[in-house]
Amino acid sequence: KKPILMDCDPGHDDAIALLMAFASDQLDVLAVTTVGGNQTSEKTLQNALKVLSFAGITHVPVAAGASQPLVRELEIAPEVHGESGLDGPVLPEPSFAPSDKTAIELMEDVIMNCQEKVTLVPTGPLTNIASLLIAAPQVKERIQRISLMGGSAVGGNWTPAAEFNIMVDPEAADVVFQSGIPITMCGLDVTHKAQIFDHEIEHIRQQGGKVAVMVAELLDFFAKFHQEMGFEGSPLHDPCAVAWLIDPTLFTSQHVRVDIETCGELTDGATVVDLRGINGREKNVDVVYDIDRERFIQLLYDSLKKYR
Ligand code: BDR
Ligand code: CA
Repeated sequence: KKPILMDCDPGHDDAIALLMAFASDQLDVLAVTTVGGNQTSEKTLQNALKVLSFAGITHVPVAAGASQPLVRELEIAPEVHGESGLDGPVLPEPSFAPSDKTAIELMEDVIMNCQEKVTLVPTGPLTNIASLLIAAPQVKERIQRISLMGGSAVGGNWTPAAEFNIMVDPEAADVVFQSGIPITMCGLDVTHKAQIFDHEIEHIRQQGGKVAVMVAELLDFFAKFHQEMGFEGSPLHDPCAVAWLIDPTLFTSQHVRVDIETCGELTDGATVVDLRGINGREKNVDVVYDIDRERFIQLLYDSLKKYR
């Protein structure tokens, strides 16, 4: 099993990414850390604890991370994820407490004590990961890869040029993308092709089990926002970063140079993806741009069956 760390801001699609990761026979989730992003860090921590408790996953430490980006004020996304950050289903209070450690302490501990190199799966702003690399640079050689949701080669969703996770903390993204650690970037290029449609949400609801019903309720809420935005379905952004680790044959990617814009007047927070190798900088990222959507949805169905 591949040892991984999930760093997230649940978040509807983050919650589904967590469930997919914990359901996989191929992944061993060693810890979960949370970050301010879709909602405040207090809310994303509670949401992670609630989702995991509801699914009966209480054996893995969960730690709270950064409440503010490295240098900017936090921007949240209540219009996408609601006031709670996870509007839709009514979830009971968590059945376990978070770790006493900070996200950074927990990640460092887990990475340095693991026999194998660890893969990081960030599905929110990159504040925690950048803080870890700055505070404990010795972890770098113990990290196998970072499979993240963020950025895009073409166009943003928070500004015309920038995707939300990168836009919230571009300085952190810059640290991560320049770290030299191999990166898989599941950005909007692929996640907008990873849509789930209404009849597939119904299929999940009918699959059986309270976790499947909860996921369907999350997706009902998520679908309303996306349909108002003109999408046919809802992009399952964050599960792509997990699915790529479970079955990379679902995806197509290109190894290129990616840099982060941290001061552009119109392009702040953009991922500058050098698809044609024009700038001559060393290639640092596998940019994922296509998906076998049907097989990806099948992987989601199969993952949720494990919770019945
Ligand atoms: C990303 O932003 C968040 O709203 C989602 O959880 C996802 O991580 C998509 O831009
Ligand atoms: Ca997210």
